Amino acid sequence: MTSRVRGVIARSKGEPVEVTTVLVPDPGPGEALVAVQACGVCHTDLHYREGGIGDDYPYLLGHEAAGVVEAVGDGVTSVAPGDFVILNWRAVCGECRACRRGRPWYCFATHNAQQKMTLEDGTVLSPALGIGAFVDKTLVAAGQCTKVDPAVPPEVAGLLGCGVMAGLGAAINTAPVTRGDSVAVIGCGGVGDAAILGARLAGARTIIGVDIDPRKLEWAKQFGATHTINSRETDPVERIQELTGGNGADVVIEAIGRPETYLQAFYGRDLAGTVVLVGVPTPDMRLEAPLLDFFGRGGALKSSWYGDCLPERDFPMLTDLYLQGRLPLDKFVSETIALDQVEPAFAKMERGEVLRSVVKL
Ligand code: APR
Ligand code: ZN
Ligand code: ZN
Repeated sequence: MTSRVRGVIARSKGEPVEVTTVLVPDPGPGEALVAVQACGVCHTDLHYREGGIGDDYPYLLGHEAAGVVEAVGDGVTSVAPGDFVILNWRAVCGECRACRRGRPWYCFATHNAQQKMTLEDGTVLSPALGIGAFVDKTLVAAGQCTKVDPAVPPEVAGLLGCGVMAGLGAAINTAPVTRGDSVAVIGCGGVGDAAILGARLAGARTIIGVDIDPRKLEWAKQFGATHTINSRETDPVERIQELTGGNGADVVIEAIGRPETYLQAFYGRDLAGTVVLVGVPTPDMRLEAPLLDFFGRGGALKSSWYGDCLPERDFPMLTDLYLQGRLPLDKFVSETIALDQVEPAFAKMERGEVLRSVVKL
């Protein structure tokens, strides 16, 4: 029987989001119906609303979520009703060229639900990142559900579904930071602070947080930054070099997605080190720099897609570390809000007042 639930949609470009009735089909083969318990508000949700990702309105927003499996379709064995799960947008296919080469974290054909959620008049909804989780119940591919320890509060667990995993993974998977490295993180929002946490977890010796907002730099220290730089006041490249014996950091993680901060990352990195771009640029952005520097400074320039995570491998490991008190993921939850508070949460996010607002259902 189709479920009739409340969900947050972006009906058209630039318009405020609204809570409306969403019809969710019962799970078919390979699908799972999940009762959402918590879902974080991410920049990507706002980008959908603003038309920055596509034009397939209406969008069902929300994608950083955790909840309980309510029902599964035929052939689903990986999860069962009652399981506490984090939703992910990397349900690996096992068959694409990346999967066949043993690099499933790059999977190019990730799975989503086949059936569509709709409005009451039958209008098909486009779920954000193939999930759509600002809704009481959502329909996903079973592979989008990763079972974790139910002792983790849902508002904390859900964060691993997107931004926090992106930052943690940029440090521990993409770079990867190893014990004794010096690391700088440019941009200390939710993603950058997660990168700081990841660098600490991996055993970095020096962790330098760079931002233009003093409040963000204070938070960065709470996540493990050993030094901070206000790059409005101080040249970040020179200061990173000073803090690393004149050399630059072994790893610099750019968590904003802008050309000028990417160049700070590039020049703030030691020769033959690693730059990781986890911030997402916009289509109009261009990079200009002497090509010779890219040769002469050697090393690796990487991009991190979703922290190069493998949900099945990384989510249970990270939630276990949280439960052991070794990964303070709860510090990312700035506030919990109701389903009808997504629009004000976007405004707080834009003003930089929160790391994450999390909708509790
Ligand atoms: N120099 C230094 N810091 C800056 C600059 C700048 N020129 N511009 C912005 N910042 C800082 C902001 O002050 C903020 O602390 O970058 C941080 C960005 O954080 P958030 O806006 O909270 O964004 P976050 O959720 O962390 O995501 C960062 O990663 O996944 C992507 O789409 C996401 O591109 C975005 C990036
Ligand atoms: Zn694949
Ligand atoms: Zn996201």
